[in-house]
Amino acid sequence: MGELHIVNHPLIQHKLTIMRDKRTGPKDFRELLEEITVLMGYEVTRDFPLDDYEIETPMQKMVAKRIAGKKVAVVPILRAGLGMVDGLLSLLPVAKVGHIGLYRDPVTHKPVVYYCKLPLDIDKRTVIVCDPMLATGGSSSDAITMLKNKGATDIRLLCLVAAPEGVKKLQEDHPDVDIYTASLDERLNENCYILPGLGDAGDRLFGTK
Ligand code: PRP
Ligand code: URA
Repeated sequence: MGELHIVNHPLIQHKLTIMRDKRTGPKDFRELLEEITVLMGYEVTRDFPLDDYEIETPMQKMVAKRIAGKKVAVVPILRAGLGMVDGLLSLLPVAKVGHIGLYRDPVTHKPVVYYCKLPLDIDKRTVIVCDPMLATGGSSSDAITMLKNKGATDIRLLCLVAAPEGVKKLQEDHPDVDIYTASLDERLNENCYILPGLGDAGDRLFGTK
């Protein structure tokens, strides 16, 4: 089963509290999401393999470590996932970026696809799917299915706030995908919003309603 990693370093918890506060406006919300993404990026990349690399320091030769292996693709789910891209690229500057556009139908709460553009060699990359909200899990699960249909095999999901319902769906649909979240919240409400959550992440990022 895909492992659930709750990345709850004090800095992350503190910043997430400010994000949750309804008085926090889009500018601070955006900045905090980027900062938290960088901090969570440490954990999402923790298992990246290293190889030996010979260098010469000003003092002597040495065999040092370097990240080896596969290249990375960062894939935000539009819109809210866009707020996590720059944080990940600051850690992984040569990663390629794919985009998957999904919105939740307001009545059924099921995801509807409107865009998909991925790196051609997605099958050879470690893919970090990012979306701050894992609610019912429908959007993330469908995005991961789309990636698998294009050949991706090494996928992890980075979110910010997850509901137990979404975690369960992801683990059932994609048992090979690890989930990284800053918080596992209580539950969904009748409109499939996360409680206590932080409201509509896309609207809060971009100042829409
Ligand atoms: C939000 C959020 C996720 C999705 C989570 O996007 O950013 O993509 O809902 O819900 P789920 O787990 O129940 O699928 P939304 O559909 O509101 O689109 P937006 O980011 O464009 O506002
Ligand atoms: N999408 C959001 O942006 N927030 C939620 O709580 C659920 C879905």
